[in-house]
Amino acid sequence: MKFLMVCLGNICRSPLAEGLLASKVPAEIVVDSAGTADYHVGEKPDLRSIAVAQKNGIDISHQRARQFSVQDFDNFDHIFVMDASNHVNVLKLARNANDQEKVKLILNEINPGRNEQVPDPWFGKEKGFDDVYEMLDIATDKIVENYLK
Ligand code: 4NP
Repeated sequence: MKFLMVCLGNICRSPLAEGLLASKVPAEIVVDSAGTADYHVGEKPDLRSIAVAQKNGIDISHQRARQFSVQDFDNFDHIFVMDASNHVNVLKLARNANDQEKVKLILNEINPGRNEQVPDPWFGKEKGFDDVYEMLDIATDKIVENYLK
């Protein structure tokens, strides 16, 4: 089973989602993350994401940003996007219905069908990163429950 977390820059939200899910599953489960944009390719996660993860005992500092590509549809079973914009941008690259079915809004794992979004914390303060961490902690618990139990 392979899971991919996707946001815009792959430096704030999806690195946290990757670190959280990876901390909750056996090592043979593949968990990765990517961004729809190429702005931050090769960079470490935002220091505020590294800090909130660290505060909660998770190290995400080894991660490096990469851009989502069409090959990710072949390499992953489930692709979780953070917001509606990421959703549109990933679906634009889908080649067929099978690709499309892999893509889901991550917060729909908690509240199916509500299409709630993980807000982009980039322009905000530290509190935004705490809120994102908390949402993704619950969402990744649900992913374990929904896909791995
Ligand atoms: P992320 O946050 O999508 O959660 O990684 C952002 C990071 C960078 C930018 C936007 C969002 N940016 O515009 O550079």
